[in-house]
Amino acid sequence: MAAATPIICEVAPRDGFQSIANPLPTEAKIGIIRDLAAAGCPRIELGSFVSPKAVPQMADMAEIVEGTRDLPAELAALVPNLRGAENALKAGLRQIVYVFSVSQAHNLNNVRQTVAQSLTGLDEIVKALPKGTFLRVDLATAFDCPFEGGVPLMDLVEAVKQVAAIAPNAELALCDTTGRANPFDVARRFDTVQMLPETAGNTWAFHGHDTFGQGVANALAAWQSGVRVFDTAAAGLGGCPFAPGATGNTATEDLVFAFNEGGRSTGIDLPRLLDVADRVAALPGGVTGSHLRHVPRGRAA
Ligand code: COA
Ligand code: ZN
Repeated sequence: MAAATPIICEVAPRDGFQSIANPLPTEAKIGIIRDLAAAGCPRIELGSFVSPKAVPQMADMAEIVEGTRDLPAELAALVPNLRGAENALKAGLRQIVYVFSVSQAHNLNNVRQTVAQSLTGLDEIVKALPKGTFLRVDLATAFDCPFEGGVPLMDLVEAVKQVAAIAPNAELALCDTTGRANPFDVARRFDTVQMLPETAGNTWAFHGHDTFGQGVANALAAWQSGVRVFDTAAAGLGGCPFAPGATGNTATEDLVFAFNEGGRSTGIDLPRLLDVADRVAALPGGVTGSHLRHVPRGRAA
């Protein structure tokens, strides 16, 4: 059996760009996405098909898809409801990321629905997706909620069971929306959900933020638990507008460095990625994280 390799899913164009108050010009977004693909990012979340009133930064999604459809990366978009999924498919995408939050308070704040309503929405989407569409479900606040605090493991287990019953073959991402998770709990939660008989047909991803400085450690704890797909953002750009106090995703370059050092290639060209990360960090209005960008370049890659 070939050695397992980590798969990086670059989410700066979605989780990062949504955090920049004044929407970036469409051409600037397309330029960054194209550069991320050229650096070897195998999966890219292009943005979200959401209400432009809720997130004006994502109003140009159809143009973004149009301007990136020739790229070799797997391209996905986040959706909060059936309408978003239909728009993503109409634009030409074949990878859909459906998001809802395990905690009621965050789900109401983020997508204005109860968890039960969101699960009904997932069911509608599963029934509507054409054959061959790749579905991922993002379980936001899988560890911690900005309004309710620590999310009980049993709440996560219950949500995962319900999602798996509706979408038995989907990729399920446990999302540390607030960056408050710790590596021990990440391992415990992934070990628990992967053991459930209900999830036998699902695959797993970890979406982490670096707010408390645990981003790389959390991702590596997930890796040790068998997770192979990791969401990160170039330069650690971000901060969810619906999760007060959260900063950006774990920086792609930081996690790629960790995997490289451990002999696990992500297929990403680190020097090229660092150049893109520098451009992301220079975007007006963006808040960035990242350790590696601040190391003298000759030592970083
Ligand atoms: N794409 C575009 N527009 C959409 C839409 C979608 N997927 N879903 C709903 N809308 C529009 C409706 O047509 C309506 O427009 P109108 O006011 O011009 O008639 C408006 O959005 C509100 O629709 P409604 O069904 O009443 O939804 P809502 O106000 O309860 O908001 C969401 C629900 C999910 C659409 C909205 O909260 C949202 O888009 N949230 C995104 C959250 C997000 O991106 N979070 C960050 C990622 S985790
Ligand atoms: Zn996030």
